[in-house]
Amino acid sequence: MSANIVIPYYSSYGTTHKLAEAVAKGAEEIPGATVRRRRIPESPSAEEAMSGQDAYDAAQAEMEDIPRVDHDDLHWADGIIWGTPTRFGNMAAQVKQFIDTLGGMWFEGELEGKATGMFVSTGSIHGGQETTILSSLAPLIHLGMVFVGVRYSTNPQIMTTEGVGGSPYGPATMPREESDVEAPTPDERKTARALGERVARVASRLRDPKEERETTPAA
Ligand SMILES: Cc1cc2nc3c(=O)[nH]c(=O)nc-3n(C[C@H](O)[C@H](O)[C@H](O)COP(=O)(O)O)c2cc1C
Repeated sequence: MSANIVIPYYSSYGTTHKLAEAVAKGAEEIPGATVRRRRIPESPSAEEAMSGQDAYDAAQAEMEDIPRVDHDDLHWADGIIWGTPTRFGNMAAQVKQFIDTLGGMWFEGELEGKATGMFVSTGSIHGGQETTILSSLAPLIHLGMVFVGVRYSTNPQIMTTEGVGGSPYGPATMPREESDVEAPTPDERKTARALGERVARVASRLRDPKEERETTPAA
């Protein structure tokens, strides 16, 4: 089994960044997996709006050593696990902006057949963890990727009535600024690791997408 996994994510205040660490750990547990964590660049307008805030500046400094994602990372990858904070129930514009640079790769079918999944950070439990992932499916499907979620059978923590982030659609957490609970919680990390592992496994089993294009008749 072998798989190259890239985890491109955007994070303003560092919560999505911490969830990305747990997703990476899960993928690394699969023998033969090579994992890259990559930062999706900030937008100038968001940087202008948020820089100067202590929490933003501290999180950006903490992420400084994470390389920026580029198209070569996506070429290299067999599996792509996206991370985003929720913005009004959707993915952050920074993530969409990066996805919107993939027209050339879409045209060439470069991402077709690659395993994909998503993890999110919200402000509140009902703030859009599931809608963010579901609304992100459209571009991922256009790009021809194969979506991977989290299984109930091996992850009972997603079948909860408590305030635990994460669902069958993908891992999630919340910063919980008004409590001492550190995010992601152990259960949320477990879901994140489960997605990392599962995408790495699925990616290693999928056929080479180029081979799929060459061997599958168009009609
Ligand atoms: C413009 C904006 C829109 C947001 N929209 C939502 C939302 O719809 N639902 C929600 O729960 N949180 C929302 N949030 C809060 C963030 O999703 C939340 O703070 C997230 O955990 C931040 O992740 P980060 O620490 O990785 O930046 C919003 C934040 C901003 C700045």
